[in-house]
Amino acid sequence: YKGEYAHYTLKEISEQPSTILNAGNNTRLEIDLAADSIKHAKNVYITGSGTSYNAALIAKFLFSKYAKIKIDPVISSEAQFSPDIFEEKSILIAVSQSGESADVLETVNIAKKTGSKIISIVNIMTSSLVHQSSVAMGLNCGPEIGVAATKSFTSQLVVIYKIVDNICNGCIGLDLTNASEAIKKIISNDSKIKEVAKRLKNVSDIYVLGRGIHYPIALEGSLKLKELTYIHAEGLPGGELKHGPLALMDSNSYVLIINPNDSTYNDTLTSAREIKARGAKIIGISDMPSDVYDYWLDIPSVSESLYPLVEIVPIQLLAYHSAVDRDFDPDYPRNLAKSVTVK
Ligand code: M6R
Repeated sequence: YKGEYAHYTLKEISEQPSTILNAGNNTRLEIDLAADSIKHAKNVYITGSGTSYNAALIAKFLFSKYAKIKIDPVISSEAQFSPDIFEEKSILIAVSQSGESADVLETVNIAKKTGSKIISIVNIMTSSLVHQSSVAMGLNCGPEIGVAATKSFTSQLVVIYKIVDNICNGCIGLDLTNASEAIKKIISNDSKIKEVAKRLKNVSDIYVLGRGIHYPIALEGSLKLKELTYIHAEGLPGGELKHGPLALMDSNSYVLIINPNDSTYNDTLTSAREIKARGAKIIGISDMPSDVYDYWLDIPSVSESLYPLVEIVPIQLLAYHSAVDRDFDPDYPRNLAKSVTVK
């Protein structure tokens, strides 16, 4: 039920201030169990497809930085081509909104053959993935109808934060109330995002750039732009520009720069200047203003670990408005299904 909203996608984006507060709440005991198993495992892998894989990439950063545990992300659709990467008796964390993605279920099967234990992060608690898992943690974000994953992504991040925070005895300082307020603020500034979306009306290529933990957000942001607007969008790690992508930049390019005020800030700003010098238009997503941004989508400052949760929201809204401007149905992008149950 869409209620006051024009589309499910907008409704689901707008629900995030409350869905991030509910994520994992229905499965607190499972989060304890998962944390304990991961702490004692020799090898830990994490798998997913699309948006869920992008959440897995963020998990890699969070686990290594805060829990000092190395985890290996595996793209679910690729696992069948390298089944030997799974060591015997490991842990596989499977991330999936639907719990029905065929590629994820296949990866789970491959890992099970090595005697590995499956821990899942999933929204639909009656799904096949839950049946295959020793421990299943719920996103608890309610049904997600829009084909583009939005609220399920931020809820996946919250469950990951909670596992990591459990392992490191609260070292993240998980202030979700503050993150929720920050997202509320971004949503209340939506008219500014709508204005910037208008500039994208005739744009055919867009790049999304981030460094460190913001690189997976650049990938997720570019996935949202592709799915919803059909603009060719590419997520780039800032430091790779000179290794190739800088050749693409000219006065027709639009580049979204994810640049919160953390340890990546100065290097990312330098990348933005290099791009700007080639005539490209820069959309900055940051809590700090800069003359390098042609358009500035400001985000509130939050604690360093929580920026990914907050900075994805303006990109979701930008992609949504741009789809509507182009007369595309944001809820049901062409050629795509909500749940990919065939290979
Ligand atoms: O249900 P799942 O999380 O397993 O789905 C995985 C992908 O198919 C899904 O995230 C897809 O990439 C979305 N349409 C992205 O917005």
